[in-house]
Amino acid sequence: MNRRSWSLVIMSALLVLSLTLAGGCAPEEEPPPPPPPVDDEPEVEEPDGLRLAIVEEWLESGHANVLPFPAGREGCVLCHDGGAFAQEIDDPAALDREFLVSIDCRACHVGVGPEIAAAGVVDLPATDNVQAGSGALCMSCHNARRAPDPADDGRAAPHYSAQADVLTASGGMPFEGIEYASSEPHETFIDTCLGCHIETHAFHVSYGSCQAAECHTTDIDLDTPAEADYDGDGEVGSFQQEVEGLLAMLEDALVDELDGGSFAVEAGAISFLDAAGDPIEVDDRVYAAAYNHVLAAADGSLGIHNPAFVISILQESFSWLTGEEHPGEPYVVE
Ligand code: HEC
Ligand code: HEC
Ligand code: HEC
Ligand code: HEC
Repeated sequence: MNRRSWSLVIMSALLVLSLTLAGGCAPEEEPPPPPPPVDDEPEVEEPDGLRLAIVEEWLESGHANVLPFPAGREGCVLCHDGGAFAQEIDDPAALDREFLVSIDCRACHVGVGPEIAAAGVVDLPATDNVQAGSGALCMSCHNARRAPDPADDGRAAPHYSAQADVLTASGGMPFEGIEYASSEPHETFIDTCLGCHIETHAFHVSYGSCQAAECHTTDIDLDTPAEADYDGDGEVGSFQQEVEGLLAMLEDALVDELDGGSFAVEAGAISFLDAAGDPIEVDDRVYAAAYNHVLAAADGSLGIHNPAFVISILQESFSWLTGEEHPGEPYVVE
């Protein structure tokens, strides 16, 4: 183990110790962790009460990254600095320290986080009082940050973290006369986000939970073929491949509509460019379809968080934009 990993382990150990103290449990008399030896590979022993394995798992996750750009900004620090979240601070100038941290242990174990998890209820940008079990904690940060509005002049984009809005089928751009479908079993899964993501503190998905809930009776993973040809390309790929196909189809339709131009998220808004790369104004219809594209992409699960909803927003956006029936098969909600 090199010097850097050692200092990480020690820093982490200190962090856990301070958590234990903050939690009010009387710490047992414990020798401090041994100093790093100079040449021998040390045996790492886990001192009683210090959950180093959890710290190592967390270090593997994106939560361990300090993101100075968003964390250092007013309006952003709340979700991008674990200590700020714990204390409900939304302005870096109000922090009682001169540095920023990542989504550290405090985000979920100190202050407001455990209260939200215990209450199990969260308000999202486009829907209130979502009963989310402990996943309410995750949804407090992992949401689109704004409700969709086709007439929004600023052409706001959903934030990179639209998981809650997709899971609850609340984040789609409203089209007149169209109701999006939703996959209720994923939407109402016990403890929502945690039901699928909590096996370890790296928060990777554990596919065992798909059977544990007695919903999927066979082994299921990302390679399992989809139920139908949702993108209409004549082949049934994995569910995520079908969603990638639909994303590509909708993007092509948008590029056509922009006469060879493009769209991208910049500074929280969707910007539209013409074929020469110059910014252009678009009508509400084009904005709405692009919004749904960005929403489905920002969610990061390629549709798995709410299969029926994501298939439906992508197919409907295509039809809405082009005036043609989309070629894919519809998602059948059982
Ligand atoms: C409601 C909570 C919340 C607020 C407020 C928020 N963010 Fe985020 N942001 C997130 C979450 C959660 C992610 C991680 C999304 C993911 O990985 O799927 C994220 C991701 C990002 C990313 C991508 C990070 C990467 O790994 O590339 C950027 C950039 C970002 N946010 C910028 C901002 C800025 C700038 C602001 C303020 C204007 C802001 N955020 C405010 C929750 C928030
Ligand atoms: C993003 C939120 C989040 C972060 C960050 C986080 N935890 Fe947790 N942790 C949880 C949740 C949720 C549970 C409850 C898990 C369950 O219900 O099984 C938990 C459970 C625990 C437990 C009890 C579980 C057990 O196996 O006994 C310990 C100890 C713990 N966390 C320590 C830490 C430490 C140390 C850190 C920082 C390195 C940390 N956590 C960071 C969300 C988080
Ligand atoms: C205080 C805000 C906050 C809370 C609470 C929070 N997250 Fe995050 N989460 C983030 C941010 C910010 C990122 C992006 C980090 C990056 O891009 O480097 C992120 C990233 C992730 C990732 C991607 C991890 C990776 O390795 O790339 C997953 C999965 C995730 N979070 C799940 C959860 C779950 C599950 C919970 C609830 C237990 C939760 N988060 C609670 C802010 C939060
Ligand atoms: C029904 C199970 C399930 C539920 C519930 C669930 N997820 Fe996921 N999540 C997945 C799967 C499967 C993926 C795709 C993983 C992949 O492609 O490797 C994923 C992907 C992600 C990603 C992007 C992948 C990454 O690691 O960067 C994030 C972030 C995430 N989920 C956060 C959440 C949050 C926050 C919630 C609650 C709002 C949630 N998830 C609810 C199963 C679930």
